[in-house]
Parts: sequence; C-alpha cells; structure tokens
Amino acid sequence: MAFSDTGKIWMNGSFVDWADAKIHVASHVIHYGSGVFEGARCYATPRGSACFRLDAHMRRLYDSAKIYRMQPQLGLDALTEAVLDTIRTNEHKACYIRPIVYRGYSELGVNPFPCPVDTAILTWEWGAYLGQDALAKGVDVRISSWTRAAGNTFPTLAKSSANYGNSQLIKMEAVAEGYSEGIALDTQGNLSEGSGQNLFIVREGAIYTPPISAAILPGITRSSVITLARDLGFEVREEHLPRELLYIADEAFFVGTAVEITPIRSVDKITIGEGRRGPVTEALQRAFFDVINGAAPDRHGWLTYVYPGEPLQTAGTGAAVSTAR
Ligand SMILES: Cc1ncc(COP(=O)(O)O)c(C=O)c1O
Repeated sequence: MAFSDTGKIWMNGSFVDWADAKIHVASHVIHYGSGVFEGARCYATPRGSACFRLDAHMRRLYDSAKIYRMQPQLGLDALTEAVLDTIRTNEHKACYIRPIVYRGYSELGVNPFPCPVDTAILTWEWGAYLGQDALAKGVDVRISSWTRAAGNTFPTLAKSSANYGNSQLIKMEAVAEGYSEGIALDTQGNLSEGSGQNLFIVREGAIYTPPISAAILPGITRSSVITLARDLGFEVREEHLPRELLYIADEAFFVGTAVEITPIRSVDKITIGEGRRGPVTEALQRAFFDVINGAAPDRHGWLTYVYPGEPLQTAGTGAAVSTAR
C-alpha cells in the first residue's frame, strides 16, 4: 500500500513533516544494514484506538538493539510514550507503527561504533498485507530455495535490517514465480518461517510451530496465537518440524503483525487439507480478531489505549464510547 506522504515522523525527539524526514546518504545504516526495528499495529476498537502488545514490541526492539550493541538515546518507557505521541500527532484511529533504531552519520567503515545511534518512529494507515481475500480464502506458497540464516551468523532473535536481505530473497523468488509467499527451511532442513511471518500447522487436532531455535523471529503474534490456542483448549507443540509435515497437514497458517492470521491453502502446488481455511484456523482468527476489535475482553492485557480518557467515535460502533481503562 502506497504512502499518503502526509503526517509527521518522530526523529530523535522532534516531529518533522513526512516529506522532510531525511537522513544523509553516508549514514552507516544505508551501507551496512545497521538498524533494528519493529512493526506493530494500532487498531480501532469500540473503546478507542489501541496498540496491540506495544510493550512486547518495544521490549523486542530494545533486545534487538542490545544484541547489536546499540544504546538508544531514550529509555524504553520514554520511547513507548513517543510512539503513542506519534499516533496522537497524526490523529490515526488505526495504523501500522514502525520504530527504527539505526546507526547514523559520522564516518563509514564496518565498525559502527563511531556513528550515532539515531531513532525514528513512522506511523501510517495500512490494510491487510496479503489482501483482504487472503484472510478468508488463504494463500498459495512455495518452499523457498533460500535457507534461513545458520546459527551464530545473523542472530534471528534480533529484528535487524540486515536479516531482511534473506527475507527479500525469499519473497522475490515467491512473487516472481506467482506465489504469495515463500516458506524457508533452517540449515537442518526443518521448517522455519516465511519472509515476514511465522508458521503454524494443524494435524489431528494438535497445533505445531517451529521453535525459536529454528532460525525464526520470535513473533509476537506467534506468542499470542499460542496463548489463544491454549485458552481454547488446543495442544500446542513448539518443535522442529520436517518439511513434508506441511504437505500432509490438515491446516496450515501464517501469523504476524502484517498478515495477522492468514490461512495457507497450498504449498508447492500441493493442496493443504481441504484447500481452504480450516476450522482451527478460523477459531483462532475469531479469538484474535475479537481481542483486537474489542469484541472480547482483553484478558491478557494486550491493548494499550492511545487516547486515554477521551471518547472516540470508531467505525462500526456508531456511538461515542469511553476509552477509560
Ligand atoms: C521474519 C519475520 N518472522 C516473523 C514475523 C512475525 O512477527 P510479529 O508477529 O512480531 O509481527 C515477522 C514480522 O515482523 C518477521 O519479519
């Protein structure tokens, strides 16, 4: 979805116009991928705009920065407040949230230490990542010919810009061959994840997902789906999974901030289950969307309201409702 080119971007403590949010071409991050970032969403709920698991996303941002020996200028709480401020400044009801911590402009060389650690926060309005249809009908994917990073090479627990070279190769190969997405294997040949989403499989009533040692990003949607599935009484197993388990799965689906919960209907042109969204996927979608749409109680404290105390008119409710927690 194209940018609207409007609104403000938070850069190192100041709001600047979208068009003026520029960095120098000699900035370290451009040449060496020295950035860590997050992707979160703010949803319009009947009680007002609410960020989904903002605390977990901010924690992961600081974890990623720590792995790369970057010290953001602001502490976690202050930067979380800056995220909320950016949403308020842009008056979004619902949006995508992209904080990024990166090595800026000073000198060029592999050693990033001389370069400042800069931070920016972007927010923009964004719909379904793989299209609205995908959420209901599912997507056709392939196993990627690209493998996820080997252990002790690119740390996958860090959401770093550098890791997305691998993700881009997976995505481009899939798109070039007419698929929506690619699923990469780890270096042991077990299932890992998609270019920007985690993977789940359902077989004989149990739910499986690759563990964090399978070169995955530890997704926040993944952890939420595991919690919701257990709440619904499903057995969830985090274990190394052979590629072929996917072909014989009853259901498979992707999860992530961008794709939310998207069914997979075929892999390598092999139909998964009935070739459409299965009942377990649908039950989990319902449980997930009920939380983010405010239709179910927020039992796990996953929502952070953006405009506390102010009644907000949200789409679909037809009434002004209080956002007080
Ligand atoms: C490589 C990769 N895996 C998984 C995910 C899903 O993570 P989350 O649910 O935290 O968005 C993402 C999205 O950020 C990703 O880029």
